Amino acid sequence: MTSIADILAEHKDKEGPLLPILHDVQKAFGHVSEDAMREIAQTLNLTRAEVYGVVSFYHDFRKEAEARPVLKLCRAEACKARGVEALMPIADTQSRVKVEAIYCLGLCAVGPSAMAGDKVYARLDDAKFKSLLEAM
Ligand code: FES
Repeated sequence: MTSIADILAEHKDKEGPLLPILHDVQKAFGHVSEDAMREIAQTLNLTRAEVYGVVSFYHDFRKEAEARPVLKLCRAEACKARGVEALMPIADTQSRVKVEAIYCLGLCAVGPSAMAGDKVYARLDDAKFKSLLEAM
């Protein structure tokens, strides 16, 4: 199992290591805890406020673990124009998957789009969206 120390050792001598470290910590543990932020700050010779500021600024970073699987559903303009709002009642009536808003996945022409983990989904309609939620 990966530890924060392993992740820090992998990145600490690279240029601009903070974001890659935060991404790897989040990928390994599902969130960036206060303890992790403290350890990262100490290793990179940053203040805890600097690390906390970056974690807080980017909505992709979580400070607490999410028990449910997370689906990021694009709510930006092109996906709105292609019908994402019609999917919201489906998202709102289930609680097994946490559906979060994201603003543009770069799949505007084939929206509505969503992302779960590293995988993206396009051309979502009611049936595809329901089956995606059930599969998660
Ligand atoms: S607006 Fe949804 S992918 Fe760009």
